[in-house]
Amino acid sequence: MSLIEVRQITKQYRDGARVVAAIDAVSFDIEDGDFVAITGSSGSGKSTLLTVLGVLNRPTGGTLTIDGIEVYGLTAERQADFRHVYIGFVFQSLHLIPYLSAMENVMLPLLIGPESRQRQREMASEVLTRVGLGEKLHRLPSNLSGGEQSRVAIARAIVNRPRIILADEPTGSLDSRTGDEIIELFGDLNKDLTIIMVTHDEKIQSVVPRCIHLRDGRMCGDGR
Ligand SMILES: Nc1ncnc2c1ncn2[C@@H]1O[C@H](COP(=O)(O)OP(=O)(O)OP(=O)(O)O)[C@@H](O)[C@H]1O
Ligand SMILES: [Mg+2]
Repeated sequence: MSLIEVRQITKQYRDGARVVAAIDAVSFDIEDGDFVAITGSSGSGKSTLLTVLGVLNRPTGGTLTIDGIEVYGLTAERQADFRHVYIGFVFQSLHLIPYLSAMENVMLPLLIGPESRQRQREMASEVLTRVGLGEKLHRLPSNLSGGEQSRVAIARAIVNRPRIILADEPTGSLDSRTGDEIIELFGDLNKDLTIIMVTHDEKIQSVVPRCIHLRDGRMCGDGR
């Protein structure tokens, strides 16, 4: 059994009278510990696929099984619990809260958990140190560089110790050197986590072990 089993997943959006298949009958498996890039031109369905994999966007058809659990068969409440345990999501726009410090942003996913506030601070500080921000715990996002802001978003995605990290163009707004450093960080995190990353970056294909290529919502390549 693979960690993630995608079977005939379709996602249609309604655009007025027209129905657009953003994802069209896509099937693949992802193994525990994989590092997979999802590539394709703008509008090819990358973000749609990633949000479906993140249990954030119910597909129109097909099934998604993660760790043996058919996730869209769960109630909404159980889907939320599942996400909390299994998935860390790094959004392209990062979604950092501007008036909270790096540490407070990273603590956000812990607030609904059982740990004491003191333990939550320790956990946030540990992951921020791991992503190289141990000296900047109390900075506001506006006082951090773009690459550092990405690191805060990554720290927030891993602080719960999820099994899977999904990242939507985490290097999209960064210069190429800073982008390379973020890819290196993901490579390091991949020692303990399965990573699926959407990217426009053609270079990534030489770095990441596996690349799934989309065109018009269909899979047109799966290279290892
Ligand atoms: N909520 C929505 N409602 C209607 N159509 C949508 C919606 N979200 C996406 N689409 C359409 O689905 C298709 C795939 O969009 P998606 O955002 O997944 O592409 P993408 O590969 O992530 O593109 P980009 O590289 O520009 O981020 C596009 O045609 C888009 O217009
Ligand atoms: Mg997108």
